[in-house]
Amino acid sequence: MIELSNVRFRWRASDPLLIDIAKLSVGNGERVFLEGPSGSGKSTLLNLLGGVMVPEDGTVSIDGADLTALRQGVRDTFRADRIGLIFQMFNLIPYLDLVDNVVLPCKFSTRRARIAREKSGSVEDEARRLLRNIEIDPDMLGDRPVATLSAGQQQRVAVARSLIGSPQLIIADEPTSALDQNVRQSFMSLLFKEVADVGATLLFVSHDASLAVDFDRRLIMSEINESGAK
Ligand SMILES: Nc1ncnc2c1ncn2[C@@H]1O[C@H](COP(=O)(O)OP(=O)(O)OP(=O)(O)O)[C@@H](O)[C@H]1O
Ligand SMILES: [Mg+2]
Repeated sequence: MIELSNVRFRWRASDPLLIDIAKLSVGNGERVFLEGPSGSGKSTLLNLLGGVMVPEDGTVSIDGADLTALRQGVRDTFRADRIGLIFQMFNLIPYLDLVDNVVLPCKFSTRRARIAREKSGSVEDEARRLLRNIEIDPDMLGDRPVATLSAGQQQRVAVARSLIGSPQLIIADEPTSALDQNVRQSFMSLLFKEVADVGATLLFVSHDASLAVDFDRRLIMSEINESGAK
């Protein structure tokens, strides 16, 4: 699913290399935990994997496509079609209701909209199904804005959103940091269950090493990255 070869990246030409990865492979359906100190380049690496930026050197292949060989517009479509993203916080759109927040990726990807419709008849019904799966009642809010959900509920909605249209790669950048211990555990089991249902590959970034045990593989930034960044 992910193949990196000789990937080098720095934000500015005058900076030292931030990312210098000779090789990294993640297989289909693998669940990988990525850790490293603040500033070590984890989010930067996720941006390279999503084709938000391209490296100055090397290749980044996702599901067989070399992102570095694609024009920016094509990379943007590829990301919208193939990658489900979960961020740390502030990830729900306040003026959209619960269902429309989950449907959002289908507005950017006709592929994901089609797959969602094939599953449930309409993108809204697929959003409702995903919300129920993660134990959120799609109608629980009434007229209340999504911002009034608890942090744990908002993170679960973000999981539903990343999964709609069944992207085969789910990338999560510290999605649990706002959650307390109990909620964190139930969030993790729901995430694993849903990722397994879709058969997706999961790349999960966190500072919380106690979460690593449930993953197939643990990657440490300083071990895969040969740049000086710590
Ligand atoms: N848009 C940007 N422009 C310039 N430098 C940036 C940009 N984004 C990040 N950096 C720099 O790149 C380095 C790595 O940042 P990055 O966000 O990838 O680290 P991280 O490992 O995700 O850290 P954290 O655990 O705090 O999220 C930092 O020194 C940061 O200042
Ligand atoms: Mg980060």
